Amino acid sequence: MTQDDLKQAAARAALAQLVEGEIVGVGTGSTANYFIDQLATIRERFPGAVASSEATRSRLEKHQIRVFDLNEVDSLAVYVDGADEINGRLQMIKGGGGALTREKIVAAVADKFVCIADQAKRVSVLGRFPLPVEVLPMALGHVRRELAKIGGTPRVREGFVTDNGNLIIDLAGLEIVDPPALESRLNQIVGVVTNGLFARRGADVCLLATADGVLTLTAD
Ligand code: 5RP
Repeated sequence: MTQDDLKQAAARAALAQLVEGEIVGVGTGSTANYFIDQLATIRERFPGAVASSEATRSRLEKHQIRVFDLNEVDSLAVYVDGADEINGRLQMIKGGGGALTREKIVAAVADKFVCIADQAKRVSVLGRFPLPVEVLPMALGHVRRELAKIGGTPRVREGFVTDNGNLIIDLAGLEIVDPPALESRLNQIVGVVTNGLFARRGADVCLLATADGVLTLTAD
């Protein structure tokens, strides 16, 4: 089985987590794209979706799934999204695709966060994947210097601008032993919009696709 096969299997399994008649929160990335393709096969059962990025919005619309603005909805039953890394507590690094801020906002509104991932994403300690930090452009130099004090190697993501008009610094070489503490600390740096640690609000369920099938994981 290829990694794409596994991503597709996890995406397919997520359909069983949805609440019929409710608007669905939809993440960003290749695994989320597979989920959108699956959602399209049963779209008549849902009023529509809230998108966590412009890329997701356009894929949903291509499948004739109605896209609601987040401010049009008061609550979301379920948010489905991928991850770059996920640990046993279902805390994650996200933002490899640069959509971390909108992903975090949509996830905050949802009652249930369903992470869909292939087995390569499961780690015991977060940090091998460089941690994305979204930064207001005028604060780039300041934030880069502050991140260097934390440890690790900050690198500006070349030629990339987020849907919000901001920049991304990827912080490589971390071993994140206390994800909620680092998530809060990074958010205290003036000029940081948000960071890709999803620890204070992690996933509620992880559908982890392995060669032996899709496992349903809950937090340790
Ligand atoms: C995008 C994300 C994605 O969920 C994450 O990068 C995983 O992507 P993929 O499903 O393509 O492996 O956080 O901002």
